Amino acid sequence: MSHPFPKNFLWGASISAHQTEGAYLEDGKGLSVQDTRPRDNHEIADFTVASDHYHHYKEDIRLLAELGLDVFRFSIAWTRIFPQGRGEVNQAGIDHYNKVIDECLKYNIQPFVTLNHFDLPQALEDEGGWSVRSTVDAFAAYAQTLFEAYGDRVKNWLTINEPNIMLLVDKKILGKEIPLQEKYQQFHHLMMAEKYAFKLCHELVAAGKIGPVPNISLVYPATSKPADNQAALYFNSVRNWAYLDFSCFGRYNAVFKDYLKQKGVEIVFAKEDEEMMRTHFPDFVAMNFYTTVTVEKPVKKDGMSDGISDQQSEDIMEWGFYKGYTNPFLQKNEFNWTIDPDGLKTTLQTLYDRYHLPIIITENGLGARDELTADGKIHDSYRINYLEQHIGQCLQAIEAGVDLFGYSPWSALDLVSVHEGISKRYGFIYVDRTEDNEKQLARYKKDSFYWYQQLIQTNQLPS
Ligand code: BG6
Repeated sequence: MSHPFPKNFLWGASISAHQTEGAYLEDGKGLSVQDTRPRDNHEIADFTVASDHYHHYKEDIRLLAELGLDVFRFSIAWTRIFPQGRGEVNQAGIDHYNKVIDECLKYNIQPFVTLNHFDLPQALEDEGGWSVRSTVDAFAAYAQTLFEAYGDRVKNWLTINEPNIMLLVDKKILGKEIPLQEKYQQFHHLMMAEKYAFKLCHELVAAGKIGPVPNISLVYPATSKPADNQAALYFNSVRNWAYLDFSCFGRYNAVFKDYLKQKGVEIVFAKEDEEMMRTHFPDFVAMNFYTTVTVEKPVKKDGMSDGISDQQSEDIMEWGFYKGYTNPFLQKNEFNWTIDPDGLKTTLQTLYDRYHLPIIITENGLGARDELTADGKIHDSYRINYLEQHIGQCLQAIEAGVDLFGYSPWSALDLVSVHEGISKRYGFIYVDRTEDNEKQLARYKKDSFYWYQQLIQTNQLPS
């Protein structure tokens, strides 16, 4: 029989603004880089309507309360607060999130708010985006506005969603490929922006807590060959530790520094950076986890060019450093993402051992092509199976001493996937629309909804 989770363990579910809200030009909202992003495939849904959560937020939060959530992770659209990224506050935007926050609190759901989830204001992008220092200042002003407006009620904050994925798969997330020198200057700016958020949250939000939110995929070597182990060491640093070492230790990871040196990248620091880096730290680490990655040392270029083609893919190549490898011991989902529940426990143990900070999982889940049956049901046993295996590993990690205080999977409701439209669904709540037909956007509870509801009620996995 399965053991219960700790008494105060937080059960949640997550979404982001641009993937759910729609209403992309309503109530004074400005355009973000997601609204203007060239999409690979114009046949798939974009973010203009998405799941229309902007208009359905009351219904959605009521359903999440019925689900039994302790925590709802959502992001604020920067362009609703500052349509041009900075300057005059758009009161309608402030008001909207006041209503969302109050609606959560009405049901005793704690909001975990992400300051920014992939949707930089286009006006800032036009000035150079994260490549220029002024975006750090604009972000700090934006974060300050949010802490002042909502800090009386929102006590848990997340900084910038997955800066590592933003940079590693820039074309998919940011809509353009960035040269390496510029990419890692962006890294520095994103990481410094986060330091300002730590500082301001601690100064402005009474009892406020804040954490970084990277996507962590532990990297395995393909074989026991020393060269493959070196490949895994470098990719672990470039993909995972460079980000968290900066956030939690206030320094550049040493292996990552060597990687930058070998690539000829030189980071420009502003005068105050050294001091800021070493002074402001998070209270917890929020982690998004979908899979692990396996790499080998590349021996032949095989016509492959350097880069990473997809968020969680094996299609990874950096000549001289690492190359993706298909792990023969792991299964894949229908979108070719490797599934590794055991790897979640190892990842949690590694992370906790490295940073000794409490951890919350803020994304984990299965993207699938769900089917709405004629009687209004969605039989997503494959999702239940995925969640059950991963939650089981969370419990094992806790029993092994990891301070894991919450689990908030992706996603609360169906949303528009980063690059595969609405057909790739993650939610506990089905949103009835197709890529090109918004229909009524009616909500339906999936089988996984009832399963998760039961798990939350009993605080343990069904035996
Ligand atoms: C995470 C992002 O990397 O992966 C989410 O934070 C995203 O925004 C999720 O939706 C799943 O990726 P995808 O490509 O299936 O939407």
